[in-house]
Amino acid sequence: MSGEGTERGNIIISRKSDHVEICANEDMRRDYAYWDDVRLVHNSLPEIDLDEVDTSVTLFGRKLNAPIVISAMTGGYGKAEEINRNLASVAAEHGIAMGVGSQRAAIEEPEMARTYEVIKEFDVPLRIANLGAPQLVRQRASPQLDVESGRAAMEMIDAHVLAIHLNYLQEVVQPEGDTRSKGALKAIERFATALPVIAKETGAGVSRETALRLKKAKVRGIDVGGLGGTSFSGVEYYRARAAGDNVRANIGETFWDWGLPTPVSVVLASVGLPVIATGGVRTGLDIARAVAIGASAAGMAGRLLPAALQDREALSTELGTVIDELKAAMFLVGASDVKELARTKALIQGRSRDWLDHLSE
Ligand SMILES: Cc1cc2nc3c(=O)[nH]c(=O)nc-3n(C[C@H](O)[C@H](O)[C@H](O)COP(=O)(O)O)c2cc1C
Repeated sequence: MSGEGTERGNIIISRKSDHVEICANEDMRRDYAYWDDVRLVHNSLPEIDLDEVDTSVTLFGRKLNAPIVISAMTGGYGKAEEINRNLASVAAEHGIAMGVGSQRAAIEEPEMARTYEVIKEFDVPLRIANLGAPQLVRQRASPQLDVESGRAAMEMIDAHVLAIHLNYLQEVVQPEGDTRSKGALKAIERFATALPVIAKETGAGVSRETALRLKKAKVRGIDVGGLGGTSFSGVEYYRARAAGDNVRANIGETFWDWGLPTPVSVVLASVGLPVIATGGVRTGLDIARAVAIGASAAGMAGRLLPAALQDREALSTELGTVIDELKAAMFLVGASDVKELARTKALIQGRSRDWLDHLSE
């Protein structure tokens, strides 16, 4: 961290670095792998050549080499600049999309802008800015962000779209949480009327009702950010435990598995807008599964963090493997491009099927 910063700024900075350290070092494993509920049907005679499998897609008008988004993770403290540099360099190399972490830190502390701006040094085909829905309404402690802040966040990284994240699970668990949510949907609509906005959950999933409300509020896409990967309730559990706050630690543990599983949310939130399947995506096979059940792309955060902290080569190898796995899955179902993959048959079983049986019309 450079400079003194305000007390509020320091709280945000330590929270951001806590999140990265916890996600990289603590055990965040789940007891259930929801993506394994999605099954693709093997094609013994694919009649296509692996070399010709085309993973490219167009998302929000931008051409990507593969339907992959490096999900919003960081920015706003010293080390974040290096993490975002590694992520952006590899996103450009592989021709995939990238989001930065919440830019609120840089709106409140302009000297932090460089930790996000670094993404502009690379030719990332789809850059996604990020602000939180809770900060779009008046809170007790945080300043309220207006549409101009949204524009500033986009300009900071030369973004093509702005993700407004929905993270009330995290806010309710963390001690300094912004827990006023009245008026957030109206605020999202204000932003989405002026700017290209996508709504983005952060690990608890989006229901059909919420997806329809967001569509009405003019968002251009939905990142479902479902249950099954990084749990922010779990992250806050570790933070509270380290701070000796047993009450918050207990709440964090109780809500660890709260939310709609990602594959369930992909199906439910498909309301005619592009859907990004984020939450527990581990492999290129999971990405193929996501596309087969209706997602336009898949997002990955936690899985990439250790390599992003190591160095750009480790991260590049990791993403290269993921893309090769996606190609292998496409080959084995006989899909020569992503449109064909989207039409391929997928079964949804297990707990995910259970959820859908109760929630689908
Ligand atoms: C260290 C870390 C920090 C994150 N910070 C943000 C953030 O600032 N804004 C946001 O929209 N999502 C944030 N996320 C959520 C991710 O973008 C993603 O939705 C979530 O981690 C689920 O994906 P995963 O299971 O692949 O990790 C963060 C995730 C991690 C791991």
